[in-house]
Amino acid sequence: MNKKMLKKNKLTCIDLFCGCGGLSKGFELAGYDVLLGVDNNASALETFVKNHKGSKAFNGDLSATGTFEKIEELIDHQQVDVIVGGPPCQGFSLTGRRQFDDDRNKLYLAMIETVKRFKPRAFLIENVPGMATLYKGEVKDEILKRFRKMGYKVSCQILCAADYGVPQIRKRLVFVGLRDGDAEFKFPLPTHTEKNYVTCEQAISDLPSLEKELGEEVSSYENKTLTDYQQLMRGKCKVLHNHVAVAHKDFVKEVIAQVPDGGNYKDLPEGVGSSRNFHMAWTRYRSDKPSRTIDTGHRNNFHYKWNRCPTVRESARLQSFPDDFVFYGNKTQQNRQVGNAVPVLMAKAVGAEIKKYLDGEK
Ligand SMILES: C[S@@+](CC[C@H](N)C(=O)[O-])C[C@H]1O[C@@H](n2cnc3c(N)ncnc32)[C@H](O)[C@@H]1O
Repeated sequence: MNKKMLKKNKLTCIDLFCGCGGLSKGFELAGYDVLLGVDNNASALETFVKNHKGSKAFNGDLSATGTFEKIEELIDHQQVDVIVGGPPCQGFSLTGRRQFDDDRNKLYLAMIETVKRFKPRAFLIENVPGMATLYKGEVKDEILKRFRKMGYKVSCQILCAADYGVPQIRKRLVFVGLRDGDAEFKFPLPTHTEKNYVTCEQAISDLPSLEKELGEEVSSYENKTLTDYQQLMRGKCKVLHNHVAVAHKDFVKEVIAQVPDGGNYKDLPEGVGSSRNFHMAWTRYRSDKPSRTIDTGHRNNFHYKWNRCPTVRESARLQSFPDDFVFYGNKTQQNRQVGNAVPVLMAKAVGAEIKKYLDGEK
């Protein structure tokens, strides 16, 4: 196929274990047509479908039989150019004789089987960095071996989201495989370094403090944007979504008020806050650095300035979700969706790089 023809139509993509769709949003921004997201969590899928207009969502167990047929039917048997996904690997196991095909690994195996079945031109798998060294690297090597046997040239690397303009130190292992040609995928070069990482303050300082509105949604921005990053996230969005403060108990507010910007429990006077004394306790983000890895809502990390945890919108900003990406479900579910996601700008950078190979530019 000549290069012009390839460029005419958008590349198609399906997202397995899509969650709310951080990965999909990044690929969409990189110019892909996301046909379908599959997950078995209803609230995450609600968020996915409401934020990916034109994409279908399938609530199904990816380890169950009959899923491939359902996927084919839902995408009207269209060609799938890229399959992306972040299969959970909790409990990943190599048993006695290093059995990769152990039942506990079935979600990972489902990802591999789907690629085998659809034979996309490229695939991307995202996972925690620990996957690279699990069982002394045997798991990673086995994954590489299986995809190479299917005819893919596979590259893998640990990427840091902050290197791609995300205001967060979040490291993830990413595999990218290419089916056709001799090219081996090279990951995009960082656009940012420690010298110009986007900081927490640059990311969220325009959002209302919520000092007075506890537990109420504040839907007006109140302030103008102060940085390029805030402008990028806000875009044309006029209504602020998912900005609700946690109604902490008074004692929590009194303790955190004594922790300085970037500090933690070690900065507290003796006896204060001693009910939480593990290493992450009472941690405030540092205003002049990217945030630490956003979690799924454990309430151990606090705003660098205000005496409360970050709102769903603040965490979403730190994950580089644009402000018009609205999260659904209750607050616990929203926090889980945000914390589970691949940062949008990192996904966009890798998606755009894959596109160059598929468009014949590399
Ligand atoms: C790490 S999250 C994926 C996040 C997503 N890639 C993003 O960027 O937003 C993993 C997802 O796998 C889903 N999941 C877990 N077990 C599943 C199963 N058996 N079938 C389908 N989805 C499953 C979870 O509900 C969760 O949303």
